[in-house]
Amino acid sequence: MISVLDMKSDLDKMLSKALKAKTEPPKGRRPEPLKRKVLAMVFEKPSLRTRISFEVAVSQLGGTAIYMGPDEVKMGERESVADVAKVLSGYADGILYRAFSNEVMRELAEHATVPVINGLDDTEHPCQVAGDLLTILEKKKKLKGLQLAYVGDGNNVCNSLLLGCAITGMNMRAATPRTHAPEPGILEQAQAIAEENDCVVESISNPFEAAEGADVIYTDTWVSMGQESEKEEREALFLPYQANANLVEKAAKGWIFMHCLPAHRGYEVSEEIIDGPHSVVFDQAVNRLHAQKVILAAVL
Ligand code: CP
Ligand code: NVA
Repeated sequence: MISVLDMKSDLDKMLSKALKAKTEPPKGRRPEPLKRKVLAMVFEKPSLRTRISFEVAVSQLGGTAIYMGPDEVKMGERESVADVAKVLSGYADGILYRAFSNEVMRELAEHATVPVINGLDDTEHPCQVAGDLLTILEKKKKLKGLQLAYVGDGNNVCNSLLLGCAITGMNMRAATPRTHAPEPGILEQAQAIAEENDCVVESISNPFEAAEGADVIYTDTWVSMGQESEKEEREALFLPYQANANLVEKAAKGWIFMHCLPAHRGYEVSEEIIDGPHSVVFDQAVNRLHAQKVILAAVL
């Protein structure tokens, strides 16, 4: 599961299943679909949510997760990506990988004989978006026809959101500086899917236009992991895209604020918005666990 596209035919069903399992947990003994199964987790970047929510998900499903941090595997450096894929496939039933590059992510999946799950790369963050859509479904009781405004950097999270919205029939306007727009290839695929599902996903540059009438206002960090050297120029460039009281003025009644976290108060979002009554960011973090349990049971 490298892209949200890999969940295309099952996404709606998976989300309903996750919501049901969260709100009506089975009575008696918990089912253990991952019993005696092992998930190898290779992280090239730091993580709080992805690491812990996957470890807890695997454990609650009866399996075992083994974490390898940035100093351990050294993908493509200590040994080739293909060799890592073949070795891990001999030990584990699945590989969760947090990578710098989508190309390396795909190379790992190509050589692995067990499923590879994308725990974030430079192009997508599909497990994040599965949890995000679950959160919207939980809060708004539907997805189809809602309007999501994404403001800020057209990054991995934005790309996956475009696909997730298109697949579930949500409208999305991603407002980013033109120089940091979402990946054109992904936008094109999302627009083709959106057309089939009677919704519209667009890339624009005016954050206020995006936020007008929006049911969901979503932002992410201006400086993704690996971009630390661009911090100053990015902070200056993205300033007009901050999610603050001014931006949300024309949002739809009952709008919710979302952020995949980690957040930087005073930068991509003001304190009053992220810590205010419309914010659902901590429910969003919890829902990573519930969405990923369904993904793991389906994939492993
Ligand atoms: N949202 C998210 O993926 O958080 P982590 O980087 O802490 O895993
Ligand atoms: N866009 C961010 C997401 C962090 C979960 C990054 O890639 O660092």
